[in-house]
Amino acid sequence: MVPHATIVSDRKRAAAIAAAMLVGGLLVTAVLVVLGVGAYAPAVIAAGAVGAAVWILLRIMRHLQEGAVAHYEQAEALAGLYATLPIRTPLPAMRGHVMSPDFAREIVSGTLSKRPKTVVELGSGVSTVLTAYALEVIGDESAHIYSLDHEPLYASITRNNLAAHGLEKWATIIDAPLVETKVDGSTRRWYDTSQLLASIEAREIDLLVVDGPPARDDKMAREPALPVLQHKLSARALVMVDDAGRAGEREIVRRWTAGTQKYEVRWPNAEKGAAILKRV
Ligand SMILES: C[S@@+](CC[C@H](N)C(=O)[O-])C[C@H]1O[C@@H](n2cnc3c(N)ncnc32)[C@H](O)[C@@H]1O
Repeated sequence: MVPHATIVSDRKRAAAIAAAMLVGGLLVTAVLVVLGVGAYAPAVIAAGAVGAAVWILLRIMRHLQEGAVAHYEQAEALAGLYATLPIRTPLPAMRGHVMSPDFAREIVSGTLSKRPKTVVELGSGVSTVLTAYALEVIGDESAHIYSLDHEPLYASITRNNLAAHGLEKWATIIDAPLVETKVDGSTRRWYDTSQLLASIEAREIDLLVVDGPPARDDKMAREPALPVLQHKLSARALVMVDDAGRAGEREIVRRWTAGTQKYEVRWPNAEKGAAILKRV
């Protein structure tokens, strides 16, 4: 489905182009009249309009082609997830507000190859279901994903999805309201980790997935993830960051890794951008 915001911005763009063409036509007519060759105005405007229409058509074609490639890539990644995991009932919708299949594929591949015992996820959703499936495939009964959500509604939707897929034993959704959290002199609204830390006790985190809280009001909203949880990461931990195509997430990764050799960073291809930090 085309997101509503895209349709609205396309309408606005079309209105802006029509207005620009109208103003351009009026300006050309005025100039030609001043030069005393006003009779040529209709022909000049018609030629300009045809040129503009061809340019717009080429832009639309390029946009459609790029869209088709992007949709194909996500469909391919989604097909890979269905082929790799024993998915028992259809998954909730992906993309938009939640993770895209290409980044989910990174998480599932990382989980299957690293075989983490303890996964912590910031921001629950379909990604929690997929990671729980990957843990089920590995079959280590002591492995578990703990996913924090600040929205009780989405926490409960994810719990219901886990139940629908028969995955409750692999995953725990923790209600974690956002609280004032100090990081390097700044205060951000980030998850209350008291329940998480009580739940994982002495276990170390082998995989940390950073996909929340939403960065609508603060583009650095996810910055506390590493400073707050670093002391709980295991020596072989992976940190996977979604939405690293955004300036905020890129800056967060830059700050996390500035002045330290502790992490090797990879930026895999993903439609919303991704960063994967490996402890070295
Ligand atoms: C980027 S989403 C996290 C999504 C999750 N990691 C996933 O990929 O499915 C961040 C927050 O948005 C909320 N959320 C989850 N599913 C959502 C949906 N379908 N639409 C809008 N918000 C959602 C939850 O509160 C979640 O913690």
